[in-house]
Order: sequence, then structure tokens, then C-alpha cells
Amino acid sequence: MEQTLKIPTHIGFIMDGNGRWATQRGLSRSDGHRQGAEAMKKVVKACSQKGIKVVSIYAFSCENWSKRPQTEIKFLFSLITQFVKKEMKDYVKSGYRVRFSGDLSQLPKSTQNAVQKIIDASKDNQGLIVNIALNYGSHQEIVRAVNRILQSGLREIDEQMLEDCLYSAGLPPLDLVVRSSGEKRLSNFMLWQASYSELIFLDKYWPDFDEDTLDEILKEYSKRDRRFGGIS
Ligand code: FPP
Repeated sequence: MEQTLKIPTHIGFIMDGNGRWATQRGLSRSDGHRQGAEAMKKVVKACSQKGIKVVSIYAFSCENWSKRPQTEIKFLFSLITQFVKKEMKDYVKSGYRVRFSGDLSQLPKSTQNAVQKIIDASKDNQGLIVNIALNYGSHQEIVRAVNRILQSGLREIDEQMLEDCLYSAGLPPLDLVVRSSGEKRLSNFMLWQASYSELIFLDKYWPDFDEDTLDEILKEYSKRDRRFGGIS
């Protein structure tokens, strides 16, 4: 019997394996990231077409700065900046709202400017919300939230108050986190927001992700029995 497809409200992607995808083909790591950006384009569009409301994407972690060669970091930011300037114009036209999670003040000025422009241009849109985690870490996000609360003088809080101080304030919790490349870990990605999320780890590298991969993911998600601490 055909199973009815369940559509998550909020899906997160940890884009992993760009480097290995490229190495396998005798290409440079930059080629892998370029192809990764192409895959992101396809997957985000497919998410919108499926009726998903929010897509969160891990583009650059706080830890990436010290663990990659400077040349790769420089390339990544030029790629991300180009993507924001060019491709995200289409996002605005398509009615998507683009937001960012992470400490943007540490990014190259050109990236900051491009990011701010796209946030402003899309802020009233009502379509798919695209949340890009950029210079992001979940621990850093939670500590920042606590510091903001302390600065307000409060001495006791509830969950909602902490949530309101996260970068993701106002977004629904993650229903599903997907990681490519066969690694089975969350790597400091939206840990608070993923507390009851389903997890899917696929063996293929991120540049190979496309619309068909999303179909595969949604089929698997639809089989999951989400109990949130309850019983079936
Ligand atoms: C992980 O693969 C990928 C990244 C750290 C960068 C992801 C960024 C992009 C795809 C650029 C597009 C992003 C936006 C927002 C336009 P890896 O390099 O760690 O792969 P490896 O583990 O095989 O080396």
C-alpha cells in the first residue's frame, strides 16, 4: 500500500562531504564546495515545492575557522557571498524569507553587507523560511542567549525565555535533521532546536543531493513514529 507522505515543518541539513566528493573525482576542494552550492539550490527549491515551511542549513561552523586552510576559508566566503548576492535574489522573488543564525560580525565585510541586504529585501516575504547557519555553533548560541538574559537582570527563566534569545527565535523546532556523507553526528548544529528531531544520515556526499534525494528522505521520515516521550 502507498504510504501517505508526512511533510516536516522544519528540516535541517548538515551539508557534508564536499571535499571527499571532489577528491574522488580528482577535483579541487573548491570544486566540491561549488557543486555543494548547486546541490543546495536544488534541495531548497524542492523543499519549498513539497510544502516544507522552514529549511535550516549549516553553511559554516565556528569551528571551521581554525580547522581548515586559510585559502579554503577565503574561497568559501567568496562563494557564499556570491551565492547570497546572485542566487538569493531569486529566493526573494520566489517569496522566501532569508535569515541567518550565527555571529555575523566576524565575517568579511563584503559578506556582512550582502547578508544584510538579503535579510532586508526578504523580511516581509511569507514563503519558505531559509535559515542559514553561518559562523554558527549551538553551544555558542546557548551561551549568548544566557548572557543576554543575564544582562537583562533576570535571575530565573523558563524554556520560552531562553528560546526567545536564540538566533532561531520564532522558528518552530526542527522535525528532522539530515546529514550527508555517512557521518553520524550533529557537530554542534542546533542542539536545542533538534531535541525531538528525527535524524537521517545518508551515505551520499552533499554535492550528489537533489530533488530525488529529498523524496527518499521524506519517504524515510514518513515511516518514523514520533512519540515525543509518549507511547504509540
Ligand atoms: C562540508 O563539507 C561543507 C562545508 C563546510 C561548506 C558548505 C558550504 C557550501 C556548500 C557553500 C554554499 C553555502 C551557501 C550558504 C551558499 P567538507 O568540506 O567538510 O567535506 P569533507 O568532509 O568531505 O572534507
